[in-house]
Amino acid sequence: MPLSSPHLLGLQGVPAEDIKLILDSATTFREVLERPIKKVPTLQGKTIVNLFFENSTRTRLSFELAQKRLSADTINFTTASSSTKKGETFKDTVKNIEAMKIDMIVVRHESAGVPHYLTKITRANIINAGDGRHEHPTQALLDMYSIKEKLGRIEGLKVCIVGDIAHSRVALSNIHGLITMGAEVSVCGPATMIPVGIESLGVKVYNNINKAIEEHDVLNVLRIQLERKAGTTFPTLREYHNYYGITAERLNEYNKDILILHPGPINRGVELSSEVADGPYQIILNQVTNGVAIRMAVLYLLGTRP
Ligand code: CP
Repeated sequence: MPLSSPHLLGLQGVPAEDIKLILDSATTFREVLERPIKKVPTLQGKTIVNLFFENSTRTRLSFELAQKRLSADTINFTTASSSTKKGETFKDTVKNIEAMKIDMIVVRHESAGVPHYLTKITRANIINAGDGRHEHPTQALLDMYSIKEKLGRIEGLKVCIVGDIAHSRVALSNIHGLITMGAEVSVCGPATMIPVGIESLGVKVYNNINKAIEEHDVLNVLRIQLERKAGTTFPTLREYHNYYGITAERLNEYNKDILILHPGPINRGVELSSEVADGPYQIILNQVTNGVAIRMAVLYLLGTRP
């Protein structure tokens, strides 16, 4: 069965069968990444543009690598060196790129809803690589893949998303995806970082990090998004670290196996101590490796969809 949509705009409303298909396909591509020649001809002849209006290291590079591993032709757009600096509108920019006969667009933008808008003005398959505070579906898919790879399942696990929930597209995509796949999902952070009414999405709210550590199998720890003014929601970074930072002392107190994820980039000494960021509980670089496989799976499933 193909994916139910020609686009990946978010995980809200995406059926469990689609998520399962992406995770299962990623396992095949994860194996390709271990071969001496890490390339398959699957998307030969397809042209993909990476349209990044916001900074990125992991997502942009892993999408580009995934496209090359699938033998697609790729072009990269970054705002800093584009004619948007001369006043060209977003719509004109996209229509001109589409006129070059591209098949798929991977887009990151600081405004929520841009990927959805692209589906209305182009015929390309659209993949959301992060839109404002809204969604970052491939990040949540690679998080779920990494949890399943390590713990063997998602269903029934207790997963807590910690930190700057209010500014986080990673949180929202994880909440939708994990609940669809049968996990029990919570959020933990200072009240100023937890959106009012978030319980209506089916999550439990914790304000005490020690209790969250004690009661969960997995912590997905988010970056404090200082560029989105998250620093105005608590007095100082040191105070945030004291109350919510994940430290070895906190983890050791409960003497239990707990899996620590972080989407990156990390603010070391703020949401994670360096000891935890490099320590035995975390799988941060596995997430990055799995990100290439997940993006190969999404590109393959959308690019070959009938
Ligand atoms: N996790 C993530 O989206 O990282 P980048 O901003 O570096 O792409």
